Order: sequence, then C-alpha cells, then structure tokens
Amino acid sequence: MSGKYLVTGGAGYVGSVVAQHLLEAGHEVVVLDNLSTGFREGVPAGAAFIEGDIRDAAKWLDSSFGAVLHFAAFSQVGESVVKPEKYWDNNVAGTMALLGAMREAGVRKLVFSSTAATYGEPKEVPIVESAPTSPTNPYGASKLAVDHMITGEAAAHGLGAVSLRYFNVAGAYGEQGERHNPESHLIPLVLQVAQGRRDAISVYGDDYPTPDGTCVRDYIHVADLADAHLLALKAATSGEHLICNLGNGEGFSVRQVIETVRQVTGHPIPEVVAPRRGGDPAALVASAATAREKLGWNPSRADLAGIVADAWEFAQKIAREQ
Ligand SMILES: NC(=O)c1ccc[n+]([C@@H]2O[C@H](COP(=O)([O-])OP(=O)(O)OC[C@H]3O[C@@H](n4cnc5c(N)ncnc54)[C@H](O)[C@@H]3O)[C@@H](O)[C@H]2O)c1
Repeated sequence: MSGKYLVTGGAGYVGSVVAQHLLEAGHEVVVLDNLSTGFREGVPAGAAFIEGDIRDAAKWLDSSFGAVLHFAAFSQVGESVVKPEKYWDNNVAGTMALLGAMREAGVRKLVFSSTAATYGEPKEVPIVESAPTSPTNPYGASKLAVDHMITGEAAAHGLGAVSLRYFNVAGAYGEQGERHNPESHLIPLVLQVAQGRRDAISVYGDDYPTPDGTCVRDYIHVADLADAHLLALKAATSGEHLICNLGNGEGFSVRQVIETVRQVTGHPIPEVVAPRRGGDPAALVASAATAREKLGWNPSRADLAGIVADAWEFAQKIAREQ
C-alpha cells in the first residue's frame, strides 16, 4: 500500500537514495532538510522539498504522514570530538523535538539511521546487536542516546520504530551519490586520488592485528541499505523498538579497498602510511542475521568492485557537472 513519508535529511547521501527508492515504490515523499550538509539538487525529482530544520518539524507534520524516516544529523567523527556540543544539539536535541512533533501529530512509525559507531571497539566480530555499546566519540554517543530515547518513546507512547545501525555505506544509485564536504569516507577519498584531486591516499596505521595490518571495515551498497529501509517500514510495530545492524558480514581492509579502486579506475593510486588515528577499531564487521531474519533483508550488491564502480561513475558525473 502506498503512503506518505517525511524523509528528514533527504538532501543528503543516504536520505536521497532512500527517498528515490520510496518514490519508485509508489509512495509520496516529503523531504525536510536544512541543507547544512546536503544539496538541493540531491533531492530526487518527484519529492516535495521543505527547506527547514528538524527542530521545527511540528510546523509541517500532521496525521497524513504514515511514518518518518530520520536521516538528518551531523556525522563527522573527528568534528564531534572537538565540537561535541554541536552533536548533542543537532542529533540528540533535534531528534527529541522531532519525536515530540511526531507524538503531537499522531505519526507513530519511525525508521532511524543509527550507526556501528554506537558499539565502539568491539570485543568480538562479527558484531551482533546484543554486543556492549561503548562509543569512542561524541558522534557515536549521540546516536546511542537517540536509540535509548526511541526505546523509551516506543514503550511509553506506542511508537513503532526500527533503528538501522549502518556500517560503511558506499556506492551510488542513479542520480544520487556521496558528496560529503569535507569527505571523510575511504572510497570517495581514494576516488579523489583517481580524479587527480589529491596526490595520494593516507593509510592510517598498517600495524593493526589484521591480515595486511590495515583496518578492516564492512562496506554496504547504499541501494541495499535503501531496500532495508522500505522493509523496516513494514516491520515497524507499535510499542516496539527493533535494532538491526546493516552490513554485508564481510570485511575488507583499507589496502583491499585501494587495490579495488586501482582495478576499477586503472589509476595507480599512490598511498602514504600515516600514524594510527585515535579511536579507530582494527575491525568492524556486522552480523546482519537480525536484519535478514526480522526484516527479510537480502542484500544483492555486496561485491566490492561493483560498489566501487558505482561510486566511481557518480564521482565522474559530479566532476563533469562542476
Ligand atoms: N554515510 C555513512 O556511512 C553512515 C554510516 C552510519 C550512519 N550514518 C547516518 O546516516 C544518516 C545519513 O548520513 P549521510 O552520509 O547521508 O549524511 P549527509 O550529511 O549526506 O546527510 C545528512 C542530511 O541531514 C541534513 N540535516 C542535518 N541536520 C539537520 C537538521 N537539524 N534539520 C534538517 N536537516 C538536517 C543535512 O543537510 C544533510 O542533507 C546520518 O544520520 C548518519 O549519522 C551514515
């Protein structure tokens, strides 16, 4: 059945791809985004756009909305360490205002973008949802605080909610892709080297206890991630807060990613080894068993070369347009 959905942060990377998927599934989409890190042109054609802040969501929410998909947040780990107040204000206080507006308007379904950063340094990989949460930076802590807030909202006020804890999102879908500024994610950074926009890629530490000494991460295609959001909308049950990790369950090292970019782009990609960064776990790999079981999620784009190829196509398209 088609519905009307508010997508906060729908001018950003993940939100725009999910908004596009909702439109393709026949839903009505309203994007609410203050363009603090997003782009007006990122909002998919066919979605209504409100330039505004989640703290003011009460102005626009009413009972005609079937659910809110909440992507709007700040998400730069390094910045969160030097400006923690910015993260508590936007991610936590902003979401509190949004939840209040949803309660007032009688909108009782939520899908929230949580993160692997809520776990911190894992004791075991793959990471399951019952693993201890011990974030190593204010960004992860702000997302964990929101997860706790949602649990209470579901128990006390009947919200039906799903938090999706993304691992490393990558790739592109149609007109939508990744263009963070500043960029902090590995794949787009390596692609910038291929485009001649930076001289070399920095490898932060090559003495980790991993097969090649570099950090291992779980990369998930943004379109597979979008599929999970549509499934989460169906799974959201009043009074319950379901938390699901989203990753492919397979780790790739920084060096494997760089090598894959070399193969996809044909560029030699010089690398420079730099000191480890504080708070970077050696390996972050998801167990996606809960998402498969509870949502019926079945990712179909797990191949790293395919993920990189889609990101490369998007990066070249953006460069041509600039
Ligand atoms: N990209 C990843 O690898 C990744 C991994 C884990 C979790 N996440 C989470 O997924 C969500 C989306 O990430 P992204 O990579 O698309 O980020 P993004 O910065 O591209 O998108 C966030 C969007 O939210 C908007 N926004 C921020 N604060 C707002 C506010 N107060 N009111 C209205 N709009 C606001 C921004 O303008 C932007 O368009 C974030 O919540 C992030 O924490 C992302």
